[in-house]
Amino acid sequence: MSTTLITNISELFTSDAAAGIITDAAILFEGETIAWLGAATDAPAADTVLDAGGRAALPGWVDSHSHLVFAGDRSREFVARMAGQDYAAGGIAVTTAATTAASDYELTRLVMGRVAEALANGTTFIETKTGYGLSVEEEARHARIASTVVDRVTYLGAHLVPAGMDAQEYTDLVCGEMLTRVLPYVQFADVFCEQGAFNEAQSRQVLTAAREAGLGLRVHGNQLNPGPGTKLAVEFGAASVDHVNHIDASDITALAGSWKSWDAVTRTGTPGTVATCLPACDLSTRQPLAPGRELIDAGVQIALASNCNPGTSYTSSMAFCVSTAVLQMKLSIEEAVTAATYGGALALGVQDLVGSLEVGKRADLQLLNAPSIAHLAYRPGMNMSGPVFRAGALVAG
Ligand code: NIG
Repeated sequence: MSTTLITNISELFTSDAAAGIITDAAILFEGETIAWLGAATDAPAADTVLDAGGRAALPGWVDSHSHLVFAGDRSREFVARMAGQDYAAGGIAVTTAATTAASDYELTRLVMGRVAEALANGTTFIETKTGYGLSVEEEARHARIASTVVDRVTYLGAHLVPAGMDAQEYTDLVCGEMLTRVLPYVQFADVFCEQGAFNEAQSRQVLTAAREAGLGLRVHGNQLNPGPGTKLAVEFGAASVDHVNHIDASDITALAGSWKSWDAVTRTGTPGTVATCLPACDLSTRQPLAPGRELIDAGVQIALASNCNPGTSYTSSMAFCVSTAVLQMKLSIEEAVTAATYGGALALGVQDLVGSLEVGKRADLQLLNAPSIAHLAYRPGMNMSGPVFRAGALVAG
């Protein structure tokens, strides 16, 4: 198998607790896999040698929360929100109408374009959700289209009760025929447990049905109000609870409890429920930022994700999420980058494949047009993206 050595890396941030940061580094790919990494002076010979030009390198971003299957535009809603109107889940219905009107061809191209845009900005592994279908046919169509483009698909039939439909009748549909139809295309199920969306009993019903169908679980929890979402996620052993803006000390304790059998240094044991923070969404909805600092201090593993969607977070920039987490959520740059790489991988259950630079893992790596990862927050808003490698191949930059 052919080997590629990338050398003259000023700073190699591994997102691996044991290896940390290696300065004046090099990394060797053998085919699609990382075969070696260390000091450039110790580098082995390779078929191809690439000069990183003194750039910093880090794992590709792992974006564990997005809603890319949509058509239409909600910039007017955004402008109204900036003028003082509150965010309400009802905006989802506007996107449902536009998305339902889009053909398979249009929708596939839209999703592909969004994934390509994310890739150009360093995202080498991405999850997306259904949830703008809200009918059996549309949810199945969105799941099928997503499965041809992204790495992991989450079924979010329980995003909003369609107008004119009885909430219990719709929940039964989500847990019945709709679930059966999306099953071939999805790995996870999710529920928006929130006032104006699904209540605790309905959320339990969705999580129970999805678990029985063999899917991994997630919860959109505590985005807009205090409520049962976070504790439900822990109770059901969900892979993640996402948003977590309005959580209290008891929610943080519950999340921390789920990580008790996990060794955060050796990264062994049973993963608990990842708290996924979505800072771009928090800014766009003017919600309090998720308490990332408090969660980390309590021993909770967190992820940072883009939540790219047309209503609350129309960006796939993980670099923006990282800079916001450092500047506004009091994370160190190392914590923020780890949350946007290894944390995302944990939330998707793919930590043995991607999310950190370790021998044997997939060769997903991005070079920054900067000498250190600190520049991601030190120069907020600047495009730092350099060459991007996915499974050992140059795919952008
Ligand atoms: O994660 N919270 C629910 N879903 C999306 C928003 C969807 C929308 O408004 O279109 C979110 O913020």
